[in-house]
Amino acid sequence: ASLNNHSHHFRHADSTASPPSSAVAKISHLKAVVLGDAPASEEDDVVLPSHDFSRQALVPSQQKYLEMYKASIENPAGFWSGIASSEFYWKQRWGDQVYSENLDVRRGNIKIEWFKGGITNVCYNCLDRNIDAGLADKIALYWESNEPGFDATLTYSQLLQRVCQLANYLKSVGVRKGDAVVVYLPMLMELPITMLACARIGAVHSVVFAGFSSESLAQRIVDCKPKVVITCNSVKRGPKTVFLKDIVDAALIDSANKGISVDVCLTYENQLALKREKTKWKEGRDIWWEDVVPKYPTSCDVEWVDAEDPLFLLYTSGSTGKPKGVLHTTGGYMVYTATTFKYAFDYKDSDVYWCTADCGWITGHSYVTYGPMLNGATVLLYEGAPSYPDPGRCWDIVDKYKVTIFYTAPTLVRSLMRDGDEASYFSNLVYLGSNLLLSSISIQYCCLKLSGSNKERNLFEFCKHSVIFFDSGMKVYLHDLRDYPLACKDHLYVTRYSRKSLRVLGSVGEPINPSAWRWFFNVVGGSRCPISDTWWQTETGGFMITPLPGAWPQKPGSATFPFFGVQPVIVDEKGAELDGECSGYLCVKSSWPGAFRTLYGDHERYETTYFKPFPGYYFTGDGCSRDKDGYHWLTGRVDDVINVSGHRIGTAEVESALVSHPQCAEAAVVGVEHQVKGQGIYAFVTPVEGISYSEELRKSLILTVRTQIGAFAAPDKIHWAPALPKTRSGKIMRRILRKIAARQLDELGDTSTLADPGVVDQLIKLADT
Ligand code: PRX
Repeated sequence: ASLNNHSHHFRHADSTASPPSSAVAKISHLKAVVLGDAPASEEDDVVLPSHDFSRQALVPSQQKYLEMYKASIENPAGFWSGIASSEFYWKQRWGDQVYSENLDVRRGNIKIEWFKGGITNVCYNCLDRNIDAGLADKIALYWESNEPGFDATLTYSQLLQRVCQLANYLKSVGVRKGDAVVVYLPMLMELPITMLACARIGAVHSVVFAGFSSESLAQRIVDCKPKVVITCNSVKRGPKTVFLKDIVDAALIDSANKGISVDVCLTYENQLALKREKTKWKEGRDIWWEDVVPKYPTSCDVEWVDAEDPLFLLYTSGSTGKPKGVLHTTGGYMVYTATTFKYAFDYKDSDVYWCTADCGWITGHSYVTYGPMLNGATVLLYEGAPSYPDPGRCWDIVDKYKVTIFYTAPTLVRSLMRDGDEASYFSNLVYLGSNLLLSSISIQYCCLKLSGSNKERNLFEFCKHSVIFFDSGMKVYLHDLRDYPLACKDHLYVTRYSRKSLRVLGSVGEPINPSAWRWFFNVVGGSRCPISDTWWQTETGGFMITPLPGAWPQKPGSATFPFFGVQPVIVDEKGAELDGECSGYLCVKSSWPGAFRTLYGDHERYETTYFKPFPGYYFTGDGCSRDKDGYHWLTGRVDDVINVSGHRIGTAEVESALVSHPQCAEAAVVGVEHQVKGQGIYAFVTPVEGISYSEELRKSLILTVRTQIGAFAAPDKIHWAPALPKTRSGKIMRRILRKIAARQLDELGDTSTLADPGVVDQLIKLADT
């Protein structure tokens, strides 16, 4: 509201002025980015790969894809062993069987093995093998700090030295093959270094996204009982400083109380964020990385491991409160992430690759660290927030490093798209100003004078919605731009950067809506770069359904076709496979090398969650439809998992955090459409008897979720609920809650089976309180 008042105030003050007609003419002639007419239906909206792109692509045509796909399905053993033996180093080749599997619970325990008996090491394949092949001096990592102007690089040989030093240190404190190491680091080079060092000595890393709370971290520590926890003292995210070490301290106290004490907390001093003197310290347990690691030798023997030895654990949300420890093993994961990376991004040795995901999620494991490094790629790591200091930062980074492959999430695309639109107002201002040869400084000065405020924020808000006209006598006219619907859409935050280096774009984490796809394609990629919309999961290890740029015409919003070796099937409620144009539950028939092998410590839950719902298949938890041309369209989760900004959050996890609050009697959480995040978290909360709703309680409930899970899981909305709609047997009817949350009140359906149908009316009445 204050923003509106603000700009109206100016308009009012200047109400006698009218823009000179020439200026108005300029406005309507400013170049607009035409995003193309909407096609008759999504299915008919096809974007062809450019001829130039296809010609140079690894898979240049549909026909070539079909040939390779057919080979991979008809003879998976031959297809994958061909790749495994020609592109990787094995100390010893696998046994007679390339793979063995049972995905059918009716035939016994679920078991998946690839390259069993093969002896290798992922770190060796990422570093030593590439260095031997001549990449010693190639840049392995570019690191860009949160603060513009601070950066660093490591070549492949330098990276190997760093990895070896840490590996030697870990060995010196007793970490052995098979031991777990918990990692709670932001996007510093030390994060991939740590992952690779663990892999080198056969230790199992469990990276916890450094946005999880101390309680979540403690839960993961208790589950895998690490010898060492690796963290850093602090990190800056945008303008904010986050004291990571404090979170780790709290988690270590918490886990010690639960019987698991950790001997060593190796802490990196992130000097740009916090000096060591200001870091809380526990002598005997805490050790500065910089004090010990550089003292160790820069070479370290490789621990050769079996292809089926574990590589890492990564926790993900499911439909119950307890996160699941997804376990990936060595050989199959290595072959699969490297191969998917190569084909889905049409990788070339000259590429500079940037994936905006954090290594705390699977995308950062498979497509920041392992997949690209196995290919000897140059990888960019960005420490900070994508819109800091302004929404042009990503494109600034793209230009600075000449990024060729840019892989991100739809939520980021949507938020930059929104900021880009807002910035277009600002561009009007500059455009008209520069016509009169005014420097931007003097324009800013005008704004400051006019706004009567010297606060930067006000200036920005003001510029976003206002336009200044200058007449030849340098008189200044101010207008609220919202009066000019035809104003240019120049997406200044994007277009002021060249982005010419970009070649391929990628999207992951949630379905990308066609309008975001179009903006990504047209504005960011200059209508030049194919988009790989990669559908996959923590569990699948790597891409499952993805375009191969160059091979297929794309349809905005569709992940297109399966990767080599993947057989997606769409089934109905009874588990019957559907053919042709259809929609239903997405499953996968037979295994692929990158599949997870178990849930850590709970193979039964693995079988129950993923293999029992539709016997004979791996069940993904996603809905999917297939169109008349065979394209796949993912429609989102069909279980009680919400996808917020591409992050999976179990409704049960949020509910159990809420009900742990002493004033919360009951809670039910559902996902609701959110313009930027994809889905938002909507919580229905019943306070305990005698407690009434208050703003204070609302805030304290949200705080509880933040401290128990992490800020990213905080509910967007708390809906007070005197009671929840339940069936006579006491089951909460989430279908009704979802409709209320979405305000689709005419679609509530049959409420007669509720124990108390009156509850629904009560909820509707309280909807906007
Ligand atoms: O619902 C699907 C969605 O994200 C889920 C997997 O989440 P997670 O294990 O955290 O991994 C995210 C990164 C791979 C899936 O079950 N999802 C992921 N990618 C896409 C997607 N939905 C639609 N299109 C995608 N490209």
